[in-house]
Amino acid sequence: MALLYAEQVEYLDVEEMQETHEEEIKILNEVDKLAIQYSMDKSKLSQLEAKIDEYLKHVKEHFSNEERLMKKYNFPSYEMHKMAHDMFLMDIGITIKQWRKFGDINKVINFIRKSPEWIVLHINTVDAPTAAYIAKRMEDEARK
Ligand SMILES: [Fe+2]
Ligand SMILES: [Fe+2]
Repeated sequence: MALLYAEQVEYLDVEEMQETHEEEIKILNEVDKLAIQYSMDKSKLSQLEAKIDEYLKHVKEHFSNEERLMKKYNFPSYEMHKMAHDMFLMDIGITIKQWRKFGDINKVINFIRKSPEWIVLHINTVDAPTAAYIAKRMEDEARK
């Protein structure tokens, strides 16, 4: 069983946003799978660490791309949406710092396993209306 399925999140009107979400869910599930393997075989640690780094990098690019699109199309609730991203990044950043400082990777694994709840809520209630707005602006632009 995967940690999160693409079907659990709203399908977005902006293709690049949708693709990013699908990719990110895939990486998230790979982190979870490696964490399970690591719990039985500690030699998997470096692979797991690399996957967590990949996940964090993907999240950062995902958020900054959405922010770029919101700015480009003058999305009115930009500040609110960006703040939600910043808070998530702050939370995961603190968790990763604790892991680097105290060496307890379980902190990061726990965070990642709890994150689907936030992800589903964010995509369905924040990204979906944002994408609907941007898709409309994109259409207007194409018609010009
Ligand atoms: Fe998103
Ligand atoms: Fe977002």
